[in-house]
Amino acid sequence: LSSAGRVLSIQSHTVHGYVGNKAAVLPLQLLGFDVDPVNSVQFSNHTGYATVKGDVLDGEQLWALIEGLQANDLLHYTHLLTGYIGSVSFLETILRVVEKLRTVNPNLIYVCDPVMGDDGEFYVNPELVPVYREKVVSVATMLTPNHFEAEQLTGRRIETEAEALAACIDLHAAGPSKVVITSLSIDNMLTIVGSHVQSRGKSPEQFKIAVPKLHSYFTGTGDLMTALLLGWSHKFPDDLDKAAELAVSSLQAVLNNTIANRSKTGASPEPKPEQLELRLVQSVDDIRSPAARFPAVKL
Ligand code: ATP
Ligand code: PLP
Ligand code: MG
Ligand code: NA
Ligand code: MG
Repeated sequence: LSSAGRVLSIQSHTVHGYVGNKAAVLPLQLLGFDVDPVNSVQFSNHTGYATVKGDVLDGEQLWALIEGLQANDLLHYTHLLTGYIGSVSFLETILRVVEKLRTVNPNLIYVCDPVMGDDGEFYVNPELVPVYREKVVSVATMLTPNHFEAEQLTGRRIETEAEALAACIDLHAAGPSKVVITSLSIDNMLTIVGSHVQSRGKSPEQFKIAVPKLHSYFTGTGDLMTALLLGWSHKFPDDLDKAAELAVSSLQAVLNNTIANRSKTGASPEPKPEQLELRLVQSVDDIRSPAARFPAVKL
């Protein structure tokens, strides 16, 4: 079996639970990728728990790992994937990594989830915004912001589907040929909007996928979503709508499995964070071969 590709995935690691690399690596491996994870933090658990302990990798430590790989001629990647990044200096180092990887493979696909916040609030230092906006977006091949992040990156308010599509066009103009706004809250629905410029100068092909909003707050779903989008758009490079249908369908199956488990473990009205950890290992069949249950609507 030939490898689908080789991914350098720079994301968080948690000892317990499934966010960051813990949410991305297994799915990508199941889709046939060789994945080399760099753990940008090593925390006991995600930040939604009462206590978090652990260490953060700094930019120099990241660069040392890249130098080690380079010294052994191991920088041959088809994809770079980045998620949550906690500091400007680490993000600046990511930019150096992109440049370095492209000296080895000029066709490197950089899939960037510009994690900054959600629901109108930052969970990173807002100093990261101009760095993403002015430097990172222009080198990304695929960008997967949520509603809030798309607003931050474009300076637009997004209140309608038309405004979301306009934001995608702004982002294409800055660089990435594929943009997926991974969660938009419009009219109480959860909508995914995708936009793909097939070739330079052409107008984008755009679509949306609506899913029912579940009444729980999950963690790691954004990371899983971006990993699945990377995976499926490698298999269907000209059909972002198809890739997104498959990614969304897998994700919804994982969430259903997660909720089904929760109802068996107790009936407290407010689930504890551990009850909502993604049931990833129990969902391998849904990751490998999802039943496409959420059709994309072309716009
Ligand atoms: P990021 O913060 O990583 O940029 P994000 O805010 O879009 O991205 P999530 O809010 O976790 O990340 O959503 C990612 C995907 O997970 C959505 O597209 C949706 O398919 C699924 N999802 C997350 N939460 C829910 C929910 N409560 N109900 C239904 N689907 C959900
Ligand atoms: N990484 C760490 C360390 C986290 O604590 C979290 C959320 O709490 C995440 C990543 C990401 O989550 P999501 O994929 O839900 O955006
Ligand atoms: Mg969100
Ligand atoms: Na996202
Ligand atoms: Mg997120």
